[in-house]
Amino acid sequence: MRRGLWAAGAAVAAVAAVAVRDLTQRRHALLRNFPVIGHGRYLIEAIGPELRQYVVAANDEERPFTRDQRRWVYASAKKENNYFGFGTDNDIEYTAGYPIIKHRTFGRAVPQSNPEAGYEASVPCAKVLGAARGRAKAFRPASVVNISGMSFGSLSGAAVEALNRGAALAGCLQNTGEGALSPHHRHGGEMVFQIGTSYFGCRDEHGRFDLAKLKAVVESNPIRALEIKLSQGAKPSLGGLLPGAKVSAEIAETRGIPQGVDCVSPSRHAEFSDTDSLLDWVELLAAETGLPVGIKSAVGDLDFWEELTTLMATTGRGVDFVTIDGGEGGTGAAPLIFSDSVSLPFQVGFARVYRLFAERDLHEKVVFIGAGKLGLPDNAIVAFALGCDMVSVAREAMLAIGCIQAQKCHTDTCPTGVATQNRWLTRGLDPALKSVRAANYVKTLRRDLLKVAEACGVEHPGLIETSSVEILDGRTTATPLDRVHDYQPGWGLPSKADREAIIALMLDEPQGGSAPPSR
Ligand SMILES: Cc1cc2nc3c(=O)[nH]c(=O)nc-3n(C[C@H](O)[C@H](O)[C@H](O)COP(=O)(O)O)c2cc1C
Ligand code: SF4
Repeated sequence: MRRGLWAAGAAVAAVAAVAVRDLTQRRHALLRNFPVIGHGRYLIEAIGPELRQYVVAANDEERPFTRDQRRWVYASAKKENNYFGFGTDNDIEYTAGYPIIKHRTFGRAVPQSNPEAGYEASVPCAKVLGAARGRAKAFRPASVVNISGMSFGSLSGAAVEALNRGAALAGCLQNTGEGALSPHHRHGGEMVFQIGTSYFGCRDEHGRFDLAKLKAVVESNPIRALEIKLSQGAKPSLGGLLPGAKVSAEIAETRGIPQGVDCVSPSRHAEFSDTDSLLDWVELLAAETGLPVGIKSAVGDLDFWEELTTLMATTGRGVDFVTIDGGEGGTGAAPLIFSDSVSLPFQVGFARVYRLFAERDLHEKVVFIGAGKLGLPDNAIVAFALGCDMVSVAREAMLAIGCIQAQKCHTDTCPTGVATQNRWLTRGLDPALKSVRAANYVKTLRRDLLKVAEACGVEHPGLIETSSVEILDGRTTATPLDRVHDYQPGWGLPSKADREAIIALMLDEPQGGSAPPSR
């Protein structure tokens, strides 16, 4: 009894102390006006995303990924039933811009009747990366779905490891992101090494690009291609800042920077200053390493792309691949205005760039990679129809390894250990288990893409034509994808030789069909 009285007294005293502090502080008007209960507002603000997603939001309301989309990724990653019952709850009839994929009654290819999530379909790229420009280490990527660039630093070591192991299991590529190649990347997965403006992992002590270091990294790791990062959709034209507090000894060692000091990435490269010198640098890297070399960029003003394609068509120099990131893409941290409004969304930006390549007859000689919520089958199919040869997935892969879309990646307090350097939080993420989830997700997406391709009557997602997709204008009309983006016949497809080669490869895959005819 006496203990209860003490406890009650202590609680009242604590509340009184908070009330006094609230009434006397000047920083928060809300707390001065509503002492004690005003704290409820901050609590609710802090857990708002979680509250919305679990209690308030409908299946298709949340962004960046709706509950349905996340459920599909989670179920696919766990190899659980990823079907949905009772029909769509998307507002198809009234959503302008909604893409509709047109199946064929009698197509060339017949879908496999295999409903199992995680069913293993081999879906290699329809083009050989680097072949058009005769690179010494040209190769055919084994998977049309790959893991997009996310640095060690923005992601935890455990998350990077889970994705690297997952890439090995799924037979796909992991892009290192601009934060260099860390020990967490060395678990068997093949990689694309990304070179950002700070040249992390290939810089000297003054921060200058160091070709010898790049070659050493390439020679001692399973790196299959180099990607020069010009910009990314969520923060185009911006550099980056990793606060000194997050620059641990391991990150410092990985990136080649001093420990505990703010790490600022400039917004522009020092190795080239215009399109012409960019192409010289691309050719230098390709000649020195033998690897295919590409660029990653978001799309804004088209001057750069006009100049790039004109120079490629007239000078014989060129990139082996182009990764286009949509403005709807993700990042560890960015100013709101850049995430929300700078750079075109994927579909618009990609189509504009692809058109410039196609007008100069370069589209069959370059591998096109898309990013920007393309880890969802419907978006990915539109991307393939527009001419993408592969898609890169970032946040969907994060979801697969446990991200709950708490949207706190910029605070170092990620509750699932995916996007934090906090040891306690990272401890919760088991790379061995999550690597299997990442691989299951990639395999399921690949399988779904193949099934949709077959529903469209073709053997491979890269063979889906623009005529297979229409964009709804509303309840009563729809516009074919080629008309929406002003494509000419044949655009969006690989060359005839590449088409024949990929069809031959895909015919080795199990075919679908039904029982033989009764007579
Ligand atoms: C946590 C995080 C870190 C990222 N880091 C990089 C990076 O280092 N380099 C890069 O080019 N893009 C980076 N991105 C962008 C992704 O690679 C990708 O282009 C973008 O998120 C769109 O793909 P998504 O919609 O599948 O997430 C990052 C994205 C996230 C979410
Ligand atoms: S990575 Fe972590 S902080 Fe970022 S959205 Fe996912 S769960 Fe939230």
